[in-house]
Amino acid sequence: MKAAVYYENGGPEVLKYEEVPDPQLHPKGVIIRVEAIAIEGGDTLSRWRGQLATRPHIVGYQAAGEIIEVGTEVHHLHVGQKVATLNSIGSHASLRAVPARNCWVVPEGYDLKKAAAIPVTFGTAHDCLFEFGRLQKGETVLIQAGASGVGVAAIQLAKRAGAGMILATASSDARLERLKPLGLDHGINYAEKDVVKEVMRLTDNKGANVIVDSVGGPTLQGSINSLAYRGRVSMVGAAGREPMVVDVGSMMGGNRTLSGVFLGAEIGTDRVHDNIQQLIEDAAKGELEVVIDKVFALSDAAAAHAYIESRAAVGRVVMVP
Ligand SMILES: NC(=O)c1ccc[n+]([C@@H]2O[C@H](COP(=O)([O-])OP(=O)(O)OC[C@H]3O[C@@H](n4cnc5c(N)ncnc54)[C@H](OP(=O)(O)O)[C@@H]3O)[C@@H](O)[C@H]2O)c1
Repeated sequence: MKAAVYYENGGPEVLKYEEVPDPQLHPKGVIIRVEAIAIEGGDTLSRWRGQLATRPHIVGYQAAGEIIEVGTEVHHLHVGQKVATLNSIGSHASLRAVPARNCWVVPEGYDLKKAAAIPVTFGTAHDCLFEFGRLQKGETVLIQAGASGVGVAAIQLAKRAGAGMILATASSDARLERLKPLGLDHGINYAEKDVVKEVMRLTDNKGANVIVDSVGGPTLQGSINSLAYRGRVSMVGAAGREPMVVDVGSMMGGNRTLSGVFLGAEIGTDRVHDNIQQLIEDAAKGELEVVIDKVFALSDAAAAHAYIESRAAVGRVVMVP
C-alpha cells in the first residue's frame, strides 16, 4: 500500500510518500480502504516529538473508509460498510487495520471527509465541556484556540447545549470571524489583546464558568486567571508546544477546578463509544458542522502538515489517498 511515513521526528519535510507492506488483519479488528484522513493537531505533535512504533512510522489518529476485511471475532461489522476509525497510529495510509471497537458506522450518504474528522475533535470537545467541565445552561464558556479542530467542535456543542455567552481566542481577527456562524459571541484576538482582561471586560468581571484549553504553556495560566467563581478549566492539549507551568495557588481563592482530559483513556468505554456514534449521526443530520478548511492528496502529506503549522487552517485539513 501507499503511505506517508517518516524515519525520524522533525518538521513536515520528514514525511515521505512510499510503498510499504499492507497492514495485517487482527481477529478482533477490521481493515479499511481509506477514503479520507483527518489530520489532528496531535498528529503534527507526534511527527515532531512522538515515539516511532516502527521505522518507517505511519502517524495518524483518524481516517474513514470502506471495510474490506473483517476479523474472525468481529460480528457487528461487515465488508462494504463505511466507517470512521480512530487508532493511536496508522491513518496516513491507503489501507488501515483498526480494532473493531474503534470503528463508528457512517450514515449512508454522509461525506467521509467530514466523518473522518469527528471522533477526536467532537468526542474530546464534548468531554471537555460536559463530562469534565460540567457545563450548565446559561453559563459562560471560553474556548482557547477556537479555530482549532477541537475549538470548532466545542463552540458548536456549547451553543447547542444553551451556554450563555461563548468566547474564543485565536491569533487573528479573520480566524475569529469564521467562527461566528458556528455560535461564537465574542472573539478575542490574543495577538492584539490581553485575554484575561478581555474575558473580564466581556463578563462584567465575573469570568468564564467553563474553559477548554488545548494550547497549554502560558495560555493555561491565562485560562485559570479568566475563571469565574467555581469555574472549571478542561486542560486537553499542548498545541502551543511550551512547558505547562501553572501557579496551583491561583486555584484556591475562587474554588476553581483544573481537570486534565484525555479522550484516549476512555475511548474503550461504552459512554465514549456511544457518544461519538451519536455525534456522527447528529452531524449527518446537519445538526453539527464539520469545518473542512482544505483537502490535500496523501502524496502531499508534507505540504498538508506544513499548511496546518502555518496557522492558516480553521477546523480540519483532510487528505485523500
Ligand atoms: N487530550 C486529548 O484527548 C486530546 C484530544 C484532541 C486533541 N488534543 C490536543 O489538543 C491540541 C489541539 O488539537 P487540535 O486537533 O484541535 O489542533 P489544531 O486543529 O491543529 O489547532 C491547533 C491550534 O492551536 C493554536 N496554536 C497556539 N499556539 C500554537 C503553536 N505554537 N503552534 C501551532 N498552533 C498553535 C492555533 O490557533 P491560533 O493560531 O488561532 O492560535 C492552531 O490552530 C493538540 O495539542 C492535541 O494533541 C488532545
